[in-house]
Amino acid sequence: MINASTQFCAVYGHPVKHSASPAMQNAGITALDLNWRYLAFDVPAAELDTALAGAAAMRFIGVNLTVPHKLHALEMMDKLDRSASEWGAVNTVLFEGLDGAGRWRPLRDFVGDEYPESVRRHGFNTDADAITESIRESLGISPAGASIVILGAGGAGRVAALKLAAEEATELHLVNRTISKAESLAKEINERYPGPRVTVGYPDTRVDLLVNATSLGLRPDDPVPVDDSVFPLERCRGVYDMIYRPAETALLRKAREAGCLTANGLGMLLYQGAKALEIWSGKPAPLDEMKYALESHIYGAGT
Ligand code: ATR
Repeated sequence: MINASTQFCAVYGHPVKHSASPAMQNAGITALDLNWRYLAFDVPAAELDTALAGAAAMRFIGVNLTVPHKLHALEMMDKLDRSASEWGAVNTVLFEGLDGAGRWRPLRDFVGDEYPESVRRHGFNTDADAITESIRESLGISPAGASIVILGAGGAGRVAALKLAAEEATELHLVNRTISKAESLAKEINERYPGPRVTVGYPDTRVDLLVNATSLGLRPDDPVPVDDSVFPLERCRGVYDMIYRPAETALLRKAREAGCLTANGLGMLLYQGAKALEIWSGKPAPLDEMKYALESHIYGAGT
């Protein structure tokens, strides 16, 4: 039951109607037996700061941020966790209150009549860890020591490439329609992570993993994002598509037929959400319940 003690979390996006986060997070909240609810709000970019102030004023537990807010939010935080500064984006905000002893504590800790006079915004990024966790869990492939092709050098491709470099991949091959973007990403990786050998374009060798971080595959008539005549999928041990709707994209179907291990991006969505709930609640996330809710929401009940 919602009552006068119910506290709130939310996702802000624009658009936001198709977000699976409310289904997943409310299942997690219920499993943790918290008197919280998780809502979705359509917040245009120009209103983000005001909407964050509103949530803080109403003592929300926290919010998730999705397209188009993750980059703009960086400068709107009072404190940045290392995860947010390292990846240059915020997808999770924890509201913290100032207690009588002058300490900042998560708002979940303010119980009974204790009321925080002042609230600050603490920004985190749970997306990057979720990428490698999902790849490890669903394909059994660890980035350390791996040679990896990354398709896409936009927002998602950049964070994936940096995270895989940080986890000590040996070789990163960056492929993007706009080559200059892959080149500047290669430069950024070389400056920040001296370990991996970074090249732009397809390798002519076998690789451990290919990651699709382009938006190709979202629409039914999209072409497959990899050029089979230049780089046959038989050369990949595993193929990870960040797209999760449809569950099997044309890329994943071709990869399966070529004998590769395959996985879609549902695990990324699950792990970024699970980590956010852990930040807010201070408890381990109920992964099974969240996963079931996510799959039912996206693919239909009974999956
Ligand atoms: P996101 O935050 O999801 O990564 P994005 O930053 O807009 O979104 O990046 C989209 C990615 O998909 C880019 O790598 C983009 O290639 P460009 O950098 O050349 O734009 C890629 N992409 C989108 N549509 C594409 C298409 N029709 N063919 C090839 N790549 C495409």
